[in-house]
Amino acid sequence: AIKGFVFDLDGVIADTSVYHAQAWHQLATELGVAWNDELADDLKGVSRMDSLELILKAGGKTDAYTQAEKEAYATKKNDNYLALLKNMDASAILPGIADFLADLKKHDYQLSLASASKNSPLVLEQLGLADYFSARVDPATLKHGKPDPEIFARGAAILNLRPDECIGVEDAKAGVQSINAAGETSIGIGDLQTLAAADINFTSTKDLTLANIEQALA
Ligand code: G6P
Ligand code: MG
Repeated sequence: AIKGFVFDLDGVIADTSVYHAQAWHQLATELGVAWNDELADDLKGVSRMDSLELILKAGGKTDAYTQAEKEAYATKKNDNYLALLKNMDASAILPGIADFLADLKKHDYQLSLASASKNSPLVLEQLGLADYFSARVDPATLKHGKPDPEIFARGAAILNLRPDECIGVEDAKAGVQSINAAGETSIGIGDLQTLAAADINFTSTKDLTLANIEQALA
């Protein structure tokens, strides 16, 4: 039986994936790297430094900068991102999510966070949702990012649950791959084709309800 939910944050709980994309787009433009939707999709769920590497690769600039320069660019992106977060509040919570979290709590499901973002505590705090999550995987302690199973496996372990007792919720292809590889049930939120590997697909967070999940699993 399902006892817990392991959540991604950006693009699942809040609209922050838009801010991440905006900040990366700005940096890519500064680096002379063309921005497109496919690149934006590939960056979802990917750590800060790995995202920078993907942007440099897309522009054929993999060897153009020193490690120190890359770190400075990553910091610049994060400063832009933090500036975009500044006025964010509970209105950035995606449709249906507040009700879904309250319903999960009411039904005694355990919730953990498996976000690759080092800003996730700040984001949850600003959204007023921090109390829902009894545990959070600290992405700074991971050996491998999504699509590796490590982050979602840890998301179950910190709840003292087995993977098969957990449902993972993601909006990124790399995230769904991570959930599946960890042996959990995957819910993909967003484009059906991009997230075809998910066990359950919803096109919008609005559809994320216990009734819909039970129906999909039946
Ligand atoms: C999440 C987002 C990515 C972001 C990553 C790292 O996975 O989907 O867009 O790059 O976190 O976020 P951070 O806040 O640590 O730079
Ligand atoms: Mg995401």
